Amino acid sequence: MKEVTVTSNTMEIQFPHGRQLRLLIGDITRIRVDAIVNAANSGLRGGGGVDGAIHRAGGPAIMRELDEIRAKSGGCPTGGAVVTSAGALPAKYVFHAVGPVYRDGQHGEPELLASCYRTCLDLAEERDVHTIGFPAISTGVYGYPVADAAGIALEIISAHLNREETKVREVLFVLFDKSAYDIHVNRIR
Ligand code: APR
Repeated sequence: MKEVTVTSNTMEIQFPHGRQLRLLIGDITRIRVDAIVNAANSGLRGGGGVDGAIHRAGGPAIMRELDEIRAKSGGCPTGGAVVTSAGALPAKYVFHAVGPVYRDGQHGEPELLASCYRTCLDLAEERDVHTIGFPAISTGVYGYPVADAAGIALEIISAHLNREETKVREVLFVLFDKSAYDIHVNRIR
């Protein structure tokens, strides 16, 4: 893993075969990628934070698809993710990942958070997704300490980008503010 560029609000890390992880400060609904990851809840009913922003920007088509998924399967378990189209967003898909609510870190939270990232990257492989944007799942309303969540997210994403075979060329990790961004950058250094 080799760091190539760092500015006050972007960090790019190069991986084998030209793959790249980019950390940036921004709004996940504004990035151009094949798949955007949502920080959803297991009822798939929408909410605030990333979820609210994605439904506002993507329009009602996304919730209509989630209604169908809910009718068939009852929702999505924690640690999993379901796929919809991206409505009006400039992406092909939204992967709605359900992160764990943080209690004390002793109730399976690290494994469940890791599973969210793994599931989304597996979905990316299945759907021929070359570029994917993640928010910092569970670090808002769900209360996961940002530094701990960052360590897990970056480990799973890095392992995937280091694979011998992957269709994923670029992962954008979109942090909402400078403080979250700095914490993530420090986990890499
Ligand atoms: N773009 C990028 N990051 C964002 C955005 C955005 N538009 N809005 C919020 N964030 C950041 C938050 O600052 C936080 O660090 O995303 C991180 C995740 O926060 P939440 O969206 O609250 O997600 P989470 O902690 O996983 O909680 C999920 O919140 O909105 C509900 O329906 C959702 O019940 C679910 C719960």
